[in-house]
Amino acid sequence: MHVLSVVSEIYPLIKTGGLADVAGALPKALATQGIRVLSLVPGYPQVLARLPHRKEAGRLEGVLGHTAIVTRAQTEGLDLLVLEIPELFDRAGGPYLDEHGRDHPDNWLRFAAFSLAGARIGLGELPHLKLDLVHVHDWQAALLPVYLRHKYASTLPVVCTIHNLAFQGQFAFHIAPRLELPSSALDVDCLEYYGGIGFLKGGLTCSDIVTTVSPTYAREILSPELGMGLDGVLQTRRSALYGIVNGIDTEVWNPAVDPHLPKTYDVRSLARRQQNRAALLGCFGLIDHGGPLFAALTRLTWQKGADMLPEVVEEIVAHGGHLVICGQGDRAIETALQNCAERHHERIGLHVGYSEDLAHLIVSGSDILVQPSRFEPCGLTQLYAMRYGAIPLVGRTGGLSETIIDANDAAMAREVATGFQFHPVEPHSLREAVRRACDAYSDRSSWSSLQRQAMKADFSWERSAAQYAQLFEAVWTAWHQSTG
Ligand code: ADP
Ligand code: GLC
Repeated sequence: MHVLSVVSEIYPLIKTGGLADVAGALPKALATQGIRVLSLVPGYPQVLARLPHRKEAGRLEGVLGHTAIVTRAQTEGLDLLVLEIPELFDRAGGPYLDEHGRDHPDNWLRFAAFSLAGARIGLGELPHLKLDLVHVHDWQAALLPVYLRHKYASTLPVVCTIHNLAFQGQFAFHIAPRLELPSSALDVDCLEYYGGIGFLKGGLTCSDIVTTVSPTYAREILSPELGMGLDGVLQTRRSALYGIVNGIDTEVWNPAVDPHLPKTYDVRSLARRQQNRAALLGCFGLIDHGGPLFAALTRLTWQKGADMLPEVVEEIVAHGGHLVICGQGDRAIETALQNCAERHHERIGLHVGYSEDLAHLIVSGSDILVQPSRFEPCGLTQLYAMRYGAIPLVGRTGGLSETIIDANDAAMAREVATGFQFHPVEPHSLREAVRRACDAYSDRSSWSSLQRQAMKADFSWERSAAQYAQLFEAVWTAWHQSTG
């Protein structure tokens, strides 16, 4: 089977979060299931710079008023199609934000064009390219099945994966005429959403199958609390909604060979982490007082509960601990954390920004990775942390609740615990969890066994890729039978 994966970011070419990690790792995992994946990504400058040897695969005229050159390239086990429309994608800033941190004002057009081009490629408009199924990710690609069903009356199978329901691609209704869709697509059964246009809503209604990135989140989004206004739509798709937990790329995230680390190690040589700890503290200009080293590696946003971190700083310091934070996001959270770092300059360190190097150093040198997310579709940092022997301390929600086994007495006795969970996700229970972690840390031998258990947890893509493969096969077979 040949699948077109349509995604707005992909590691290692361009990444703003976990979506890129999944988009980069899943094709390699699906290859072992006999599924070939071709990934379509926009031609951002970062992508073009990393793919100097791409070859023209074809040209698409009239993509919402633009001409696209589609190029093809292979890198790091990925087969890629790049949608080159320079006036839409080859510009300063990131995939979604300009260099001043504001949304690109024409994001609706950029990602509508991306989706329309994806639909036309799926339908076979590029020479010598026959595709069996399309896999679209998040709102940026969600118009694709809308174009297929409403503009081209095509039943080509589509699977739509929700990585984060908080981002829905909602725009004012006045863009509607420029989408070049028939009126059937614009009504309340498809794109119309409280008087506006909802890209993700359209994608959810027009795809054969909807998946999200953990079974728990798949249940949670059916409720008004976490359905983000789309729970009603999702209820109507209930029988087609699946949760498949993310895996991790165990080649990129492997402490035994990780080139980012001052000292590589494995489950039998945990003592070697000490040098990574020293390097990590050094990076932040902190002094090692010997207590637990907490870390946060995250977008500094309300979703991630980053606003709660300042509330536990005193608790961490009172227990002789340290805290390093690497992230960026809300200005108010950055400022509050900066104030903490100034108040406790030997123990609290902040790096505002995005750094792949530091991300690897953090999971290899810290003791406890704090992730107080208020909701979390899956979460990948806690999986990386476990693989590196940093113990996750997480809010009990979404993928966090099912990927971490809480270190309660029973789980510790049975040697299955892999981290700490807390609930409700509020500062007082986060503080309590910090105390639990500090107490556990002081018992060195049980802490080491906790680390070993976490490191042995299997979050490779194998099982999840098999689940995607099964879904793809089922949808494709049903489609094939119906079209004769
Ligand atoms: P989300 O996609 O919601 O941000 P995930 O946990 O799924 O959350 O994925 C986050 C990804 O981004 C991980 O690969 C993590 O290592 C990375 N990441 C987050 N913040 C930073 C940062 N400041 N610097 C480098 N990598 C980061
Ligand atoms: C989103 C979610 C995160 C998930 C990632 C990859 O960014 O917030 O929980 O791990 O997508 O699926």
